[in-house]
Amino acid sequence: MAELIVALDVQSRAEAVEKVKAIGDSVGFYKIGLELFTAEGPDVVKAVKDLGKKVFLDLKFHDIPRTVERAVRSGGKLGVDLMTIHSVGAKAMIQAARMAADEFGPNGPKILAVTVLTSLDQADLADVGIVGRTPAEQVMAMAKFATENGAHGLVCSPKEVGALSKALKAGTLFITPGVRPAGSAVGDQKRVATPAEAVRDGATHLVVGRPILAAEDPVAAAKAIRAEMGM
Ligand code: C5P
Repeated sequence: MAELIVALDVQSRAEAVEKVKAIGDSVGFYKIGLELFTAEGPDVVKAVKDLGKKVFLDLKFHDIPRTVERAVRSGGKLGVDLMTIHSVGAKAMIQAARMAADEFGPNGPKILAVTVLTSLDQADLADVGIVGRTPAEQVMAMAKFATENGAHGLVCSPKEVGALSKALKAGTLFITPGVRPAGSAVGDQKRVATPAEAVRDGATHLVVGRPILAAEDPVAAAKAIRAEMGM
């Protein structure tokens, strides 16, 4: 059964708490990203956890192995459930992240790898020295590399999840943003899929922001998305 994660893309702890309370029991999982974490720090993670919710801390670590290991440990101590790293951080960094996560046992944080940011195209890859592979080939190669070295799962676009879920071992987590309920505003997302399509293609977690946060009735919007996911 896939899980719904709401992207808590707000600027303050107060606003975050207000949104989580307003959405109530219809959502049990929230993503805290760079914007909110940089503004409010670990306190906002604690506040969301104190409301009984799971937290996906999306800070996309990319540093030397020791630093990433210690940052994952700090996330584990906060009770974070999912955390992101960049797969280009290489083998030792991915393994270090996994090792730190494992210290917290089966309920500890799960490590998700970012393969290629969806904002990058072929020319951007060439600029950073990745030549001879299309973005899709690079996504597949990095997905295999990251999961073989300990990542529990991947952040991927709903357009990639079908191929990845077929190619990677059972039990791999696939977290897909860029999800839009049928007929809703796309915003700045370019390659979207509906909740039903994402789940059908193998997504285990859907990240949805504006279609819920900006809805007139966020509870109804969340419920409608859950229904589309078959929950
Ligand atoms: O509001 P919306 O549903 O577009 O929010 C999607 C969330 O997922 C945002 O927090 C955004 O930063 C994140 N995200 C994304 N596309 C990616 C990676 C992350 O939309 N490729």
